[in-house]
Amino acid sequence: MAGGAEAKSLVLDRITHRFAGGTLAVSDINLDVKGGEIIALLGPSGCGKTTLLRIIAGFIGQSEGRVIIGKDVVDALPPNRRAVGIVFQNYALFPHLTISENVGYGLAARGVDKATRRGEAQRLLEMVQLGALGARLPRQLSGGQQQRVALARALAIKPSILLLDEPFAALDKNLRLDMQIEVKRLQRMAGITTLIVTHDQEEALSMADRVAVLSHGQLEQFGTPSEIYDNPQTLFVNTFVGTANRMKGTVIAAGPTGARVQLEAGGEIIGRAPKPLRASDKVVVCLRPEHLHFVSDESGFAGEIGMALPLGATVVHEIRMRDGQSIKISQARTGDTSLRDAGATVRIAPLGPGLATIFPE
Ligand SMILES: Nc1ncnc2c1ncn2[C@@H]1O[C@H](COP(=O)(O)OP(=O)(O)OP(=O)(O)O)[C@@H](O)[C@H]1O
Ligand SMILES: [Mg+2]
Repeated sequence: MAGGAEAKSLVLDRITHRFAGGTLAVSDINLDVKGGEIIALLGPSGCGKTTLLRIIAGFIGQSEGRVIIGKDVVDALPPNRRAVGIVFQNYALFPHLTISENVGYGLAARGVDKATRRGEAQRLLEMVQLGALGARLPRQLSGGQQQRVALARALAIKPSILLLDEPFAALDKNLRLDMQIEVKRLQRMAGITTLIVTHDQEEALSMADRVAVLSHGQLEQFGTPSEIYDNPQTLFVNTFVGTANRMKGTVIAAGPTGARVQLEAGGEIIGRAPKPLRASDKVVVCLRPEHLHFVSDESGFAGEIGMALPLGATVVHEIRMRDGQSIKISQARTGDTSLRDAGATVRIAPLGPGLATIFPE
């Protein structure tokens, strides 16, 4: 059995996978995960997240590239020799085994005696708040309970690497938060290098040390939650993580890391450019709603108030621009944040110079 004493690193070295039939599910993925890190794989449905986990666990043999755990290239090893625990997207419990036997299954396969297995299964079931249900069969549990059993089963083998494929999807909000905290606590305590797949960007940003954003089988960006949110490197990352207004325009002047843009909606804007741009390039300018404010001078750009949405702690105004595009502006609700009337003409501008991000169209 692999000990959890020393956390193992995980390296994906140029992993590509084509399924029979030709689907290119993942393409040239490089990922360097430090021992003990928790990494979120974030991306839309079909972008290759599950395929990547199954490659790491050894259920799919990749077309190209290497999987390296600690110092070892594990490509030749079957799943049960990789010290990888996995919670599948559909949690796949053995239907004819009791809950307790399900949790102890990996230990049985490793020759651990029955009494030890039982004790260990009970300890893990209590941890996932299912201590009383060990004698039941999986079909006698709810979806969320089965999901927690699958987590206990993955942890039972004391894996070096823990792979979680949407592990909290079937849980309600409070239980989900409890389990997120519990997994992070365990993961830290035992130093288990963890990859968690999620559609949920809040979960990714709150749980992970670093986030890998995938789109169409490719790695768009790999960085800390703040890097991903504050310094998106691609248009996809900027619009997929958080909310971003998109405004079309043309570059007037460009420097090595930024540009000045004439907006189609009227007005000019200066922003960061992660990829080099040239004058007269057609571009998309991204601005987060919380980075805009109303101005009373001639800076920024003009528009007309559409909808006003009082969302509790924030107020969101929809602004219709001159070219017909709509953008959103969000303000923290303080004492004097009043709702504006529909149809009123306003001017809005970024709160600071570095807040707009400019991408080639
Ligand atoms: N066994 C298979 N044979 C052929 N194509 C497959 C197979 N499994 C997955 N695919 C395809 O590979 C791509 C990636 O699938 P994958 O299951 O990795 O996506 P995902 O990111 O996990 O999506 P979701 O968030 O919906 O679970 C998809 O286009 C999918 O249709
Ligand atoms: Mg999946």
